[in-house]
Amino acid sequence: ALRGNPPAPQVSQSEPLPLTTRMRRNRKTDWSRRMVRENTLTVDDLIWPLFLIDSSQARTPVSTMPGVDRLSIDEAVREAERAARLGIPALAPFPYVDPALRDPVGSEAENAHNLMCRAVRAIKAAVPEIGLITDAALDPYTSHGHDGVMSEDGRILNDPTVAILCRQALALAEAGADCIAPSDMMDGRIAAIRETLDNAGLTDTQIMSYAAKYASAFYGPFRDAIGTKATLIGDKRTYQMDPANTDEAIREVEIDIAEGADMVMVKPGLPYLDVCHRVKATFGLPTFAYQVSGEYAMIEMAARAGAIDGERAMLESLMCFKRAGCDGVLTYFAPRVAEILTARR
Ligand code: PBG
Repeated sequence: ALRGNPPAPQVSQSEPLPLTTRMRRNRKTDWSRRMVRENTLTVDDLIWPLFLIDSSQARTPVSTMPGVDRLSIDEAVREAERAARLGIPALAPFPYVDPALRDPVGSEAENAHNLMCRAVRAIKAAVPEIGLITDAALDPYTSHGHDGVMSEDGRILNDPTVAILCRQALALAEAGADCIAPSDMMDGRIAAIRETLDNAGLTDTQIMSYAAKYASAFYGPFRDAIGTKATLIGDKRTYQMDPANTDEAIREVEIDIAEGADMVMVKPGLPYLDVCHRVKATFGLPTFAYQVSGEYAMIEMAARAGAIDGERAMLESLMCFKRAGCDGVLTYFAPRVAEILTARR
């Protein structure tokens, strides 16, 4: 024996355990693992949320989302062209609104020439084949950072907000948005927006409802990106859902379907996979998850710190949405994932 080396442990080859089933057989080789794989992640599963800003600079970084920038309209058009080349089906743009344009009732949301509407027109003119899914909610536009209008005593008023959301949705749809995504969690907004669109002849504009949207701590970096973190008064717990509930999510989805939602969304994503699964299993309609800004930041910052393999964690997290039954995922990783999946083909 070599000096200093411990003796090699004895591994018995001679007596196999009497097992009928050995689960590891199917995992033994790459070809076999690929053959028995139950779910696949494809470019078709990706919706790319991006941030817009009225700026002479093409890109301004979002410090809490390393790798994500706010884009000028020109730059957003270039990214839309790239997304189309990669085969990403749709973009979900969000605006950083000039603070000077924000007011208590979010008037700028109704302006047919606001940043969002101009970006929608520019992207649709350059890349008509890409889907544009645009948020209906007032938070980028209100001086208090809430998704609806606020009463003098600080309550978020449901019905007056719904009326404004309808006008916001109409402006976006008239600018060319393909799909309106109400993310405000007011009651009755799906029916009201559907009726508004239909009355304007926009019967083909889709609605993807943020049906089960929770009052989550994972939205932090998004609020940084659209500039509502500093201004938000209080929290959103009187309209967004309590993270403790799932029966309530089923009711929310049921109501939104009855009101005319074409697709529904669960948000946030990974911590709410049980909700995704239940929604898909119960209703069977197109079900999406939003891998939100805080989820992105956790993976990306941990990867940059060397704690995890970022590429593997990103792909694994997205595959988990597929396993839970989601038809697709809104993810800030969309272009990177699409590059990887395209290169593998
Ligand atoms: C607001 C809205 C939010 C997100 C999408 N639309 C934030 C919020 O509700 O405060 C969050 C997305 C993310 O965190 O990536 N209507």
